[in-house]
Amino acid sequence: MIKRRTWEAARHPVGRLPLREVDMNPYLIVYFSRSGYTRRVAEAIAAGCAADIEELRPLRDYQGIGGYLRAALDTLRLRTPELQPLTHDPSAYQLVLVGTPVWAGHVPAPVYSFLSHHGAQCRRLAAFCTMGGSGGDKVLDKIAELAGKPLAGRLVLTDRDIEAGKLQSQAPAYTRELSEHVALAPLP
Ligand SMILES: Cc1cc2nc3c(=O)[nH]c(=O)nc-3n(C[C@H](O)[C@H](O)[C@H](O)COP(=O)(O)O)c2cc1C
Repeated sequence: MIKRRTWEAARHPVGRLPLREVDMNPYLIVYFSRSGYTRRVAEAIAAGCAADIEELRPLRDYQGIGGYLRAALDTLRLRTPELQPLTHDPSAYQLVLVGTPVWAGHVPAPVYSFLSHHGAQCRRLAAFCTMGGSGGDKVLDKIAELAGKPLAGRLVLTDRDIEAGKLQSQAPAYTRELSEHVALAPLP
């Protein structure tokens, strides 16, 4: 039996893409940011590839001193805090980019929550990470492990890098890498 997706692809002039994907953006950026660094990176990448963007918003935020302590505790205890409902469907995108800070050397609880509930729905995954100074690569490896798929692209920036304007030089190279991956790799 011919699968519906194959049939749609055969009818469409651009080839491989199912019809419902042709008109929509292939990229969704899903990020969490407590103090704004990851948001800056997410917005710079979104501007470079016209991605849709979804901010993860925990029902109980992590602001203030109490929030800082709870952030570390929730993360170290592998809690999955409740998030406001997503406004985009990750499974509808060719590539989901997860943007996150490092918290206590780990994937922050809100991002852990997203990956636990939606990681398997992301057909392809890339990630980027901001940090004070260490733990970024470990966090990106953990994101791939939690979602059960390799990362199509990785970017780690320190807060100092971002303040020094390195984002302006690194974000375009990162989006180029991602667009090549999307163009070359077959759809899962
Ligand atoms: C609770 C907490 C724990 C953190 N732990 C680390 C850490 O282990 N390593 C590190 O390099 N930075 C750590 N940071 C710093 C953040 O990763 C860094 O400032 C990041 O850019 C913040 O991103 P945001 O502004 O998008 O929230 C921590 C920050 C918080 C709030």
